[in-house]
Amino acid sequence: MPDGSAGTTSLVNIGTLVTNDPSVGAGALGMITDAAVVVEHGRVAWVGPSRACGPADEQVDLEGRAVLPGFVDSHAHMVFAGDRSAEFAARMSGEPYSAGGIRSTVDRTRAATDDELRTTLTRLANEMRMSGITTFETKSGYGLTERDEARSLRLALSETTETTFLGAHVVPAEFASDPDGYVALVSGAMLDICAPFARWIDVFCDRGAFDADQARHILLAGADHGLVPRVHANQLQPGDGIRVAVEVGAASADHCTYATDSDIELLAGSTTVATLLPGAEFSTRSPYPDARRMLDAGVTVALATDCNPGSSFTTSMPFCIAVAVRDMRMTPDEAVWSATAGGAAALRRDDIGRVTVGSRADLVSLDAPSHVHLAYRPGVDLVDRVWLSTTTPKVDA
Ligand code: NIG
Ligand code: FE
Repeated sequence: MPDGSAGTTSLVNIGTLVTNDPSVGAGALGMITDAAVVVEHGRVAWVGPSRACGPADEQVDLEGRAVLPGFVDSHAHMVFAGDRSAEFAARMSGEPYSAGGIRSTVDRTRAATDDELRTTLTRLANEMRMSGITTFETKSGYGLTERDEARSLRLALSETTETTFLGAHVVPAEFASDPDGYVALVSGAMLDICAPFARWIDVFCDRGAFDADQARHILLAGADHGLVPRVHANQLQPGDGIRVAVEVGAASADHCTYATDSDIELLAGSTTVATLLPGAEFSTRSPYPDARRMLDAGVTVALATDCNPGSSFTTSMPFCIAVAVRDMRMTPDEAVWSATAGGAAALRRDDIGRVTVGSRADLVSLDAPSHVHLAYRPGVDLVDRVWLSTTTPKVDA
């Protein structure tokens, strides 16, 4: 199989193939019908019409199914312990969501053993792969001590190279009367210890978390350690998060639920991707971000799960796509692009999120004739098979 172990494998008789390469197929998704893909050494070696596909060592007949790049989930929080279903139930009875809920997960995470954290992380990572996610980012942020943040990142690295230091998730209870002391710790000793285990640095810049000056200070300290910024921005109210993200050259401003016209203008004129997280609005009964307005302004939009125990406990990218189409006024094509190429852009990767010669052979086939079914058939598990370009064997979903 396309795991790079031996020879070439051709996937033939693909009903519709999303390549995300407009130079090889139709529209922004670079669609090819009756397509084939040849994989060699875990990379895509050839893409084109099935009838033009040459011989390969092994052949897989997709029998008219749709194939697309594996989903790229650029925002998740998967190292944690504990359950917050009671908080969710209370919200559904009218309680508001607040940043403070994070602290209950912090208590549980600090008390957990490495094995307990690893078990949950592995379970969620497997769920993600079953839903077609082939690359995911995950953050620390439920430890909030030097030891617990470093431990979270070390564990995360066993599942992904896309790890993010989120020591600035909230101010922990023991620093309640000295928030500036916590900012100094996160941007000082904690960062020193955590930076070797992370690629990215994130700050929750919002009501009940960190303000613009604190966020800027922490993000720039991270950049000095070689970490690239990303920001939890404008989730709970209009504010400074998006502006700070653009100012520090963040790869991504995430949530953007309360983005103003000037925020959208800033994003459109920058290299910062707007990562939208419909699972969070769904599970906190909040208004959805206006994806249509962002897309029309020329903003690059990614979709991600935000998998976490408080605001969005889902590992399903198809669910996020369906909600984005139904409630955020994205077209099915736009939503699928954002969940693949958009996620890759948010992680500044050009080897994933597309099916082009040289890209990683991370692929998903659907029990459906086209990608549109991901939104057209909400709640139905359409993922047929998932191929990972690593030595990990094919996942039968
Ligand atoms: O992205 N907003 C901050 N962080 C998470 C929520 C974390 C939690 O509630 O535990 C989010 O929604
Ligand atoms: Fe988040």
